[in-house]
Amino acid sequence: MNRSYLAEFDEQDGYLNFASVGPPSRSARAVAGGLLDEVALGDQAATRIIGPAYQRARAEIADALGVEDGFATSVPSTSAGIMQIAFGLVGSGGNVVVPADEFPANRYPWLRAESVGGPEVRAVEITDGRVDPDALSGAIDDETRLVAVSLVDYMTGFRADIDAIVDVAGDALVLVDGIQGLGAVGAELGSADVFVAGGQKWLRAGFSAGVMAVSPRAIDRLAPTLTGWWSVEDLYAFEVPPPHPALATADRFLEGSPNLLGAVAAAAALAIVDTGGIAEIETAVLERSGAVLDLVRSLGADVIAPWRSDAERAGIVTFRLPGLPATEVVESLAEAGFVVSERSGWIRVSPHATTPMSVIEALGSALRDQVRNA
Ligand SMILES: Cc1ncc(COP(=O)(O)O)c(C=O)c1O
Repeated sequence: MNRSYLAEFDEQDGYLNFASVGPPSRSARAVAGGLLDEVALGDQAATRIIGPAYQRARAEIADALGVEDGFATSVPSTSAGIMQIAFGLVGSGGNVVVPADEFPANRYPWLRAESVGGPEVRAVEITDGRVDPDALSGAIDDETRLVAVSLVDYMTGFRADIDAIVDVAGDALVLVDGIQGLGAVGAELGSADVFVAGGQKWLRAGFSAGVMAVSPRAIDRLAPTLTGWWSVEDLYAFEVPPPHPALATADRFLEGSPNLLGAVAAAAALAIVDTGGIAEIETAVLERSGAVLDLVRSLGADVIAPWRSDAERAGIVTFRLPGLPATEVVESLAEAGFVVSERSGWIRVSPHATTPMSVIEALGSALRDQVRNA
């Protein structure tokens, strides 16, 4: 990885937990703090700085997600973006198709919307960890309004082929929860209709710094159910009673004033991804997660590995060691200076491009000691 990219990050060496939280870059921290400092002066900053800063950030987010300005916005979390989409389908009838084991952020919005008359939720059991057309096509029919999947699964690490899912989705919209991919592997709106990702993990933008891109047909089809005062035409024409027409841009998916600090932090984080080069970052992530995979396999671990090629994986490796409870392994690793997660009785390790290869070798020694002492 190039030096300018590496110089942005300050995490301790044993940090292998990017699937939970990605320690934010210096630029993301500085730009959000800097903006607060500027408005703290109490002059005309609010109008002079805030509006243009948001517009710039929004345009940069759009560019990074491969859409034109106007088709991307900032969201405080992945869930907030998905809620907007789910409630935009209330009144449309039909069904939404979503893998049953998705991270709950991609389950609650559909269930909440269903409970107030939104589309029926079809939760598809995925038996082999492969979120692919074969697994989803049986649940999709002419009444399917939307198919919602993760780009990278939080538990299995499986990376979905979004183009292939778009192909079987027919006329339905396709939503991608990209949080476990954005910043680590190639990730943009592409052929999907909604790409949404919090900024707190691989993107390393910090909290409340999510991004969302939408297709023109998503804007056409989704009702502005949760659209607030800021996201309508002539927002300051207070003498005209609401509701004003919703904006025809992605900013219609905001409940109120834009998430300014998050937007500038996300834009800064996306610029850092550009500095590193997403192809180089992805190669480094796959090399590191591949090394974790090899080492746990060499220890006889039971590994969740549903992928058939490197294109179907990213930065997450989930495993358990025979006879060793995952919580104990995670605790012992913490004592040895490694940060990893326990998830449902499994150990999840998630290195980023900044992880030194020597740390993975050291992780191997620490795990080997545990297996030997078991
Ligand atoms: C696939 C996935 N989606 C979403 C989230 C988080 O959602 P939110 O940004 O709404 O907190 C996570 C992890 O926390 C996740 O793994």
